[in-house]
Amino acid sequence: MRVLLKTKAAVVAVLMASTTMGAAEDVEVLHWWTSGGEAAALNVLKQDLEGQGIGWTDMPVAGGGGEQAMTVLRARVTAGNAPTAVQGLGFDILDWGNQGSLANLNDVAAKEGWDDVVPDALKSFAKVDGKWVSAPVNVHSTNWVWANKAVLDANGIAVPTSWEEFTAALETLKAAGVTPIAHGGQAWQDATVFDAVAMSVLGPDGYKAAFIDLDEETLGSDGMKEAFDRMAVIRANVDDNFSGRDWNLATAMVINGEAGFQMMGDWAKGEFLNADKVPGEDFLCFRFPGTADQVTFNADQFMMFDQGGAVSAEQAALASAILSPSFQSAFNVVKGSVPARTDVSDADFDACGKQGMKDLAAAAASGNLFGSMAHGHAAPASVKNAIYDVVTAHFNGEYDSETAVEELVDAVSIAK
Ligand code: GAL
Repeated sequence: MRVLLKTKAAVVAVLMASTTMGAAEDVEVLHWWTSGGEAAALNVLKQDLEGQGIGWTDMPVAGGGGEQAMTVLRARVTAGNAPTAVQGLGFDILDWGNQGSLANLNDVAAKEGWDDVVPDALKSFAKVDGKWVSAPVNVHSTNWVWANKAVLDANGIAVPTSWEEFTAALETLKAAGVTPIAHGGQAWQDATVFDAVAMSVLGPDGYKAAFIDLDEETLGSDGMKEAFDRMAVIRANVDDNFSGRDWNLATAMVINGEAGFQMMGDWAKGEFLNADKVPGEDFLCFRFPGTADQVTFNADQFMMFDQGGAVSAEQAALASAILSPSFQSAFNVVKGSVPARTDVSDADFDACGKQGMKDLAAAAASGNLFGSMAHGHAAPASVKNAIYDVVTAHFNGEYDSETAVEELVDAVSIAK
């Protein structure tokens, strides 16, 4: 069964359908991996499980960033019908864990030595009160830019390394009649862009102070106003039809040369690969100018929902498959992310993947690795949503940068 949900109204239909889904020995997996690249990666996991004789009941809920999936999840849990395994991010995992909704994976984790190979940054979102409650699949990061190489070459544009070079490139593309930045106007996409822009202006200490420590002074600073000013520049360089566009359709604009750049997490690479494009030849990946040493990360994990007792054999098998080194390589090569274990070879990864692994290790070692605000790894959902509202309202021209800063301070102080 394949259900694509676009609206909250569809939740009811799902609730009804789900009661008839899935034999006892199947795993029912709720996720938002519905784009071409994402689905190709998910197939790696499905096939792995099928090879072990475990059936897969697919529960896809379309919507990048997972907001709609989380709405469906809340409805399912409220109805007493939680799926077996659910894709989750950061603070959402901790919330479900703290509510006691997740099964304890400590037996399989101990048997397989997860504590020794999963980095602390991920463990802090996978363990609650010393119990493993979810299985980390990958590490993505949000401060990337994706570019069409032929478009850049044709316009004499080198990879920009500063905000000034980036804005000069945008001007050149605009003059050439190419959409400078492919963007989808959805709150989570606006926020993904903001992750990188804020990091580039505020620096690592300022990013942490604003989005992780929720420091009022930093949220209300001149630097934050500058970040909003830069968002307005980005807004001036997207096409007229950006509103509501799905992220993968924006990626397609870069793939087919309609646009020069996309600022997006490295799941975008999955779309390029799915279209048979080669990094370095057809497309380029680079860190957003001014964030070369930083990584704003988000890690997809599968939360195992308590089905009324100990973790089931299928849940343990799924968790074990996810953490296996061969799966971590095979899946992340396709997905665009990098492994959630530190002991996986980069041999099978392309140039962007190898860079991603190197950047992650270097950022972790130098104290430059931070949870992505946009993808739920900096602050709880209430704060994240409050920031989303301000970033999107400003992006859509509802108010100027000075007002945006004031709104941000207020919204965060109410939400936290
Ligand atoms: C992120 C998720 C990625 C990718 C992206 C777009 O939140 O971590 O795996 O799916 O959304 O859908």
